Amino acid sequence: MTWEEARRLFPVLNRIAYLNAGTFGPLALPTIQAMEAELEVAATSGRIGHAYFERVLAERAGLRERLAALVGVEPAQIALSSSTTDGCNIVLAGLELAPGDEIITTSEEHFGLLGPLQASGAHIVVTDPDPEAIVAAVTPRTRLLALSHVLWTSGRTLPVRELRDRSGLPILVDGAQSVGAIRVDASGLDYYTISGQKWLCGPDSTGALVVAEPDRLRVARPSYFAQSSYEPTGRFEPREGAARFDSNWLSAASIAGLLAALGVAPRWCYERAAEQAARCRELLEPHADLVAGDATLVSFRTEDPPAVVKRLAERDVQVREIPKTGLVRVSCGWWTGEDDLQRLVDGIRS
Ligand SMILES: Cc1ncc(COP(=O)(O)O)c(C=O)c1O
Repeated sequence: MTWEEARRLFPVLNRIAYLNAGTFGPLALPTIQAMEAELEVAATSGRIGHAYFERVLAERAGLRERLAALVGVEPAQIALSSSTTDGCNIVLAGLELAPGDEIITTSEEHFGLLGPLQASGAHIVVTDPDPEAIVAAVTPRTRLLALSHVLWTSGRTLPVRELRDRSGLPILVDGAQSVGAIRVDASGLDYYTISGQKWLCGPDSTGALVVAEPDRLRVARPSYFAQSSYEPTGRFEPREGAARFDSNWLSAASIAGLLAALGVAPRWCYERAAEQAARCRELLEPHADLVAGDATLVSFRTEDPPAVVKRLAERDVQVREIPKTGLVRVSCGWWTGEDDLQRLVDGIRS
């Protein structure tokens, strides 16, 4: 598939310079059609019957396999979730932390991680997003490192594997801005979250969680999928593998949509996205105060971010601001073209 062919799969790109996949990626036609087909089934045959459930459960298994292959882990290490936030909550509730325990995080994390961290009851230690500062903050009470692979603020990548090795601690990686944007190998990392609706261009409220060793994490928020059998008290035998952490039933349309979206992404997606991010930096450099970053998010400082975002939106150029930072953030995906970037630059200069 050529870039031109791939780009034509996204109707929304005809009008909008879509530079905010860091929030929601654009939906491709095959993704929309797969979702519509499931709604049609529901409308005409109902969401019911043995064959229906067997089929949807098989699709669920297929999705688990696809996501596992995407991040280089085994299907038995993938839980299907509804978001990165959901994944963080599953891990932090399951670790059963106490106030004397410490978790190290960075000063540039999203509330999708910070909220679950705070709710865990542990003492949260915040450092600069700098590998040396992170390692220096480790104490005998540290139980976990919890941080992003790609910072949502600047698009800077953190060396998550190196941090795990150097600290000797388990790591919870927030993968919201990495999976689908850069090549990810989550093998050997303890917990790694996936958002389906961002760089994977999947439906809303889809995602997954890698749990490297499912037997070592408590099922603290059981859904029906948690058990292979249970007693009248609710005491249960956990299902095999990370499927025990599946957070809920996902609609058949969501499963079909995410599978279709995974099928749309071309082999060259990571290289192309990196090229577009580099091109975006090159074009913005003379006109904007860029912050350092190396993934597919490009951020720049400006005096009035909401005004810049609004001005660009009036020209159908969609970017976002990062609250309380003075930053405007541009998301460059494999679908991004030169024309989108020129429209961005023209809008900034206007
Ligand atoms: C770094 C980071 N973590 C978590 C989230 C929340 O993601 P989700 O909506 O999948 O929970 C976001 C969303 O923007 C994010 O950028």
